[in-house]
Amino acid sequence: MHTFNPADSHDFPLLARQVSGLLEGERDLVANAAQFAAFVYEAIPDLNWAGFYFARPDKAGPGQELLVGPFQGRVACARIPFGRGVCGSAAQERRTIVVADVHAFAGHIACDSASNAEIVIPLLKDGALFGVFDIDSPTLDRFSDAERIGLEAMVAAFLDATDMA
Ligand code: SME
Repeated sequence: MHTFNPADSHDFPLLARQVSGLLEGERDLVANAAQFAAFVYEAIPDLNWAGFYFARPDKAGPGQELLVGPFQGRVACARIPFGRGVCGSAAQERRTIVVADVHAFAGHIACDSASNAEIVIPLLKDGALFGVFDIDSPTLDRFSDAERIGLEAMVAAFLDATDMA
C-alpha cells in the first residue's frame, strides 16, 4: 500500500518534455546520461541516488553484467551481475521493478544505507537492452504506480534523444 508521494502532483508529461528540451541537439550517451541523472535528481524530490547502470560484457564470463554510469548520489557498486539485486533483476527480466522496502527484497544490494525504497527502469530501445536507470529514496514506499509511469516516460524521452550504442 502506497502511503507517501510528494511527487504525485508532478506534471510528468511536462517533465518528459523538459528532458527532450534539455537533451535537444546532443545525442552522445555519456553527456546525455549525465544531464538526465542530474535533472531527475533535481526535479524529483526525496531521492538519495539516481543514475545509470549500462549493460557491458561480463569480465568473468560469457554473458553481460551491469557497469555503473553517470549518477547523482553517494558512490555505488561498480559492477552488478544480471539477476542480482534490484538492478540485475530488472535487467534480466526487462521490466520495471518498484521496491517499497529494499530491506524486504531478497538480494538487494545496499550501496547507501540511507536507501529504503527503489525503482529500476530498464533501458529498452528497438528490442535491445542497454542497461537500467536506478532511483533510490530514503522514504519507505516512495514510488507510486503514477510515478512509475511518469518516470518511465522520462526515461523514454532520454532514450529517444540519445544514441545508445
Ligand atoms: N540497490 C541496487 C544497487 C545499486 S545502488 O542502489 C545505487 C540493487 O539492489 O540493485
